[in-house]
Amino acid sequence: MLFPIIMAGGMGTRLWPLSRSNYPKQFIPLCGEHSMLQETLLRLKGLAHQPAMVICNEDNRFITAEQVKQLHIANAQILLEPAGRNTAPAIALAAFTAVAKGDDPLLLVLAADHVIQNVPAFHAAVAQATVLAQAGKLVTFGIVPGHAETGYGYIRRGEAVAANAANAPEQSAQSGEQSTYAVAAFVEKPDAATAQGYLASGEYYWNSGMFLFKASRYLVELKLHRPDIYQACERAVANLTADLDFIRIDKEAFLACPDDSIDYAVMEKTQDAVVVPLDAGWNDVGGFAALWQVATKDAENNVLRGEVFSHNSHDLYVHSDDKMVATVGVSDLVIVNTKDAILVAHKDCTQDVKHIVNQLKAAE
Ligand code: GDD
Ligand code: MG
Repeated sequence: MLFPIIMAGGMGTRLWPLSRSNYPKQFIPLCGEHSMLQETLLRLKGLAHQPAMVICNEDNRFITAEQVKQLHIANAQILLEPAGRNTAPAIALAAFTAVAKGDDPLLLVLAADHVIQNVPAFHAAVAQATVLAQAGKLVTFGIVPGHAETGYGYIRRGEAVAANAANAPEQSAQSGEQSTYAVAAFVEKPDAATAQGYLASGEYYWNSGMFLFKASRYLVELKLHRPDIYQACERAVANLTADLDFIRIDKEAFLACPDDSIDYAVMEKTQDAVVVPLDAGWNDVGGFAALWQVATKDAENNVLRGEVFSHNSHDLYVHSDDKMVATVGVSDLVIVNTKDAILVAHKDCTQDVKHIVNQLKAAE
C-alpha cells in the first residue's frame, strides 16, 4: 500500500515577498484555486493509498490543519517538526512511524510545492515505480532537462531495468510504458558548467524531488550513509505524542539531528536507485520565472495579478496585493507588491531573490 508523505517544511525563499516564513509558498494558491499543498493532496485521488502524512514546521501547524480540513480528506495526519532539518530527517520520521506500527509501506515522498499538469501521466509513473520499489529499489522520478538548471539534482541514466518484474526491459517498452533505468550517478545541484555538460550529454534527467521506496529500505540506506541522522530521528520518534490534529516528536532529540537533504544524504550515495522517467508537465515553481512560465499569459505574454495596468510592456510577471501598479515600456520584469514589501527583478535573475532574504535574515 502507498503511504504518501508530503514534505511541507520548506521556506520558499526564492518567491519572496509572496512567500514568507510564516506563510511559505506551499500554502499559497500560486497556480489556481487551491494552495500548492492542497493541489498535492488532491493529486493523490485515484491512487490506492493509505491516509497521507503532511510533515511541516510546528509554526505552520494551524495553516496546514486548516488547508487539509478544507479538502475533507479522511484521516490525513500532520507531523510537526520543532525546526527544519531538511528532507532526509523529515522522511526518516515518517518511515520510523510506519515501521513502529509493524507496517512496511511504500513511502511516496512528495514535495508540497510542485505543479504537475498531467495527473494521469503522474499516476502511470507511480504505478511503474511501485513494482520497482516493492522489489527493494529506491525510485526517483526523472524529468528530461530543459536547460542547465543549477538548483536541481541530476541523474545519469544507467542500464535499462524492467519495471514489470515479469518482463525484460524491451517488453516493458513495447507495452507502452516508458523505459526505466538504474541510476548510474546522482549529482545534487551541480555548478553551471557541470550542469551544461550534463544537458549536452543527453544522458541525464533532472531529479523531480519525488521518490518511492519501502520505509524499511530508506531506513537501511540512511543508517548506512548517515547513521547520525538515523539515530537522532529514531530517538525523536521514540516519544511520540498525538493530539487530535497533530503528531509531535521529541523536540530535544530532533533539534540535535544534523541538517541534510535526502539528495545528499542518501540518493547521491546509494547503489540501489532507479529512475522512472516522468513526462507530466512537472514544474517545481522554484522562482518567479517558473511561476510566469506555468501561468496563463495575455496577448503581450504578461501575467498580471491584482490591480495592474500595462502599456507597451511584455513578458512581465506583476502581482499586486494592494495599490494599483502600472508599467510602461518595460519587459522581462518581475514586480511583486505586497503589503510591506516590493520586489523589482529582472526575470532572468529571479533565482537570486534568495540573496535578499539572506540579507534580511542577517539584518534581523
Ligand atoms: N518537512 C520538511 N522539513 N519539509 C521540508 C524541509 C524540512 O526541513 N525542507 C524542505 N522541505 C520540503 C519543501 O517544502 C519542498 O516541498 C521539498 O521538501 C523539497 O525541498 P526544497 O528545499 O524545495 O528542495 P530543492 O528544490 O532545493 O531541491 C529538491 O527538489 C528539486 C526539484 O524541485 C531536490 O530533491 C533536487 O534534487 C530536485 O531537483
Ligand atoms: Mg524545491
